[in-house]
Amino acid sequence: MAKRSFASDNNAGVHPEIIEALRAANDGHVVAYGDDPFTARAINVFHKHFGKDATIYFVFGGTGANVLGLKAMTKSYEAVICAETAHINVDECGAPEKFTGCKLLSVRTPDGKIRTEQIKPFLHGVGFEHHVQPRVISVSQATEMGTVYTKSELKTLARFAHDHNMLLHVDGARIANAAVSLNANLKEITAGVGVDVLSFGGAKNGMMYGEAVVFFDKKLGSDFKYIRKQGMHLPSKMRFISAQFETLLSGDLWRRSAAHANRMARVLASELEKVPGIRLTQPVEANGVFAVIPEKYIAALQKKYFFYVWNEEISECRFMCSFDTTEDDIHDFVALVRKIVK
Ligand SMILES: Cc1ncc(COP(=O)(O)O)c(C=O)c1O
Repeated sequence: MAKRSFASDNNAGVHPEIIEALRAANDGHVVAYGDDPFTARAINVFHKHFGKDATIYFVFGGTGANVLGLKAMTKSYEAVICAETAHINVDECGAPEKFTGCKLLSVRTPDGKIRTEQIKPFLHGVGFEHHVQPRVISVSQATEMGTVYTKSELKTLARFAHDHNMLLHVDGARIANAAVSLNANLKEITAGVGVDVLSFGGAKNGMMYGEAVVFFDKKLGSDFKYIRKQGMHLPSKMRFISAQFETLLSGDLWRRSAAHANRMARVLASELEKVPGIRLTQPVEANGVFAVIPEKYIAALQKKYFFYVWNEEISECRFMCSFDTTEDDIHDFVALVRKIVK
């Protein structure tokens, strides 16, 4: 049988309902580049979640969604404030800096979350021509450390941003996991708390590929069709992204899949926690589990299960669950951990 692991929610395959949507979309010809009925329906479904005022654009991937969304929000002499652990800061090969021209100002956040107190020091150069001008606060929801901002935390960040002539961007590669975790709908935790631009994730929640950039202020998104094309993210066969999003979001597939992944993470965490010598390092609020595993055991574990050592200094490892993780996967993995960690 094909093997499942805990390295990344991107390592999972595609949800069977999405495969079916792709297959059904693969019939006949439609106009390319988004002028097709699949895309119209998918945008309509996004409007049902986020309201008619939201402007939605589909792109190929998450890095592109972040980079191009940020590009639409900034000028090159401005700056984007983010967590040190943010995907835009560590996992996008400098693309945000290259394509926006902006400096990223990162703050240390052991739990992946930014607080307003950490942003204040960047404001002393506002209006001073020798300094980049802070323009965007970018947060990941859920964070790269598996934690989730509460609605009130997001509201505080948005208010702070808007009071200081800044905007709030959310990297929502795992926004579905966050919504489930907060028992909220998608609008409540984005437009509802003052988010200006959202990268909406599909791939980590069972899609094959495709993400969306959602603008909650029409003016911010007004030039995005040019930015997307110049940024090489205008999919010609758009219908295949649209068909996936329509299936993900028109019923409860997005919520079902994310809820399952989150629940599996809680089961994995509670099992790992029972193993002597293993310590969880973050609260499990979405679909990720972070745990210190003594270094001497890691190679033996990785022979059978691939996973990432997230912080080598403290031997902290990351384990991600996805829509297709099973309790058997967890029990088999934890049994091996128990065998090796004696
Ligand atoms: C927090 C976060 N944002 C964005 C992305 C999107 O990345 P990609 O460009 O690989 O789709 C990822 C993927 O790992 C992620 O973890």
